Amino acid sequence: MHRLVYFSNANLDLSLPAIEEMVAAAAARNRPLQISGALLYNGLNFLQILEGPHQALTPLYLKIRKDPRHSGVVKLIHERISTRSCPDWGMRLLCGTAVCGGTSLETMAGVRELPAMAEAFFKFGHVATLAALR
Ligand SMILES: Cc1cc2nc3c(=O)[nH]c(=O)nc-3n(C[C@H](O)[C@H](O)[C@H](O)COP(=O)(O)O)c2cc1C
Repeated sequence: MHRLVYFSNANLDLSLPAIEEMVAAAAARNRPLQISGALLYNGLNFLQILEGPHQALTPLYLKIRKDPRHSGVVKLIHERISTRSCPDWGMRLLCGTAVCGGTSLETMAGVRELPAMAEAFFKFGHVATLAALR
């Protein structure tokens, strides 16, 4: 089993409902492939954690990379894992308190780098939004 984490720039035309719909569709497609993970959104960027069998993960990542709903996809982590850090929920959207409130990363604590990464990620989105950079 493998874990893949990437960062990207969200297409600025994307609305939150459109992202929610995209994640619901992704979750339904991921489950039969035994892929689970989380999509973090800070108002500007995505940080996605994908976990599952290597043979399913690689083609999915190649497809996601080409998706016009984001750009500038950069792979941050690609590692072999023995246990999943994400519950088997297919895919779940986490927006952080700064952007849409009320989500928790506790369940993802198994990813060593993730808490620090996620904190910086959400902070950046919050500051950038406040500064009206978009
Ligand atoms: C940020 C982002 C994350 C995505 N995550 C997933 C995912 O976890 N699983 C998935 O099947 N599709 C995901 N997609 C959508 C895929 O890029 C693609 O549209 C979808 O798999 C349907 O592909 P198909 O029309 O070739 O079947 C994501 C797209 C974006 C922009």
